[in-house]
Amino acid sequence: MNQDPRFPSLYILSHPLIQHKLSHMREHDTSTRTFRELLKEITLLMGYEITRDLPLTTRPIQTPLVTIDAPVIAGKKLAIVPILRAGIGMSDGLLELVPSARVGHIGVYRDPDTHEPVEYLVRLPDTSERTFILCDPMVATGNSAVHAVDVLKKRGVPDEHILFLALVAAPEGVKVFHDAHPNVKLYVASLDSHLNEHAYIVPGLGDAGDRIFGTK
Ligand code: URA
Repeated sequence: MNQDPRFPSLYILSHPLIQHKLSHMREHDTSTRTFRELLKEITLLMGYEITRDLPLTTRPIQTPLVTIDAPVIAGKKLAIVPILRAGIGMSDGLLELVPSARVGHIGVYRDPDTHEPVEYLVRLPDTSERTFILCDPMVATGNSAVHAVDVLKKRGVPDEHILFLALVAAPEGVKVFHDAHPNVKLYVASLDSHLNEHAYIVPGLGDAGDRIFGTK
């Protein structure tokens, strides 16, 4: 995991498998099917890395030989919350890793003129004492990501119970995110060069939602 001195709560997951798969996703002629499969595979690998610090407790279990206090993840079931619609492409991989997780949804679209987030749906599991993984492949302007964290915080979820998982981020978006929520950890596979005049990430991979769902 690499860090950038500008953004102390940004973690860049540099595992070679993650980087290799991301390069293939960036290619303009990667098919919808392959793009979707790679996103799921990357999310599984990233999910493994970001859950490294989940607190453990113990519970007594009986093996065929003896009783031991065995390590188990502490607290309530994790919640996975994709930001619609592209986040759905990541929640599948996370659910494979944590099949008993609860799943919420936050629906936000980007106003094409202002690039500001417009919320149209929020459905969440009970928020007390639960760790939330928010996911959205692209952190471009950072506005949707900030908004999604705001939604959780307004329901009383503390910073340390929120992890944000993205694939690619632009420095402009990370700055917006970091200024708004400096203590929420943001995990990405790549911090790209910049945003272009249409708020697309460069080099990026295009419109993640369109590439996942095969729309235009
Ligand atoms: N959303 C995308 O899907 N891609 C970008 O480059 C920026 C925002």
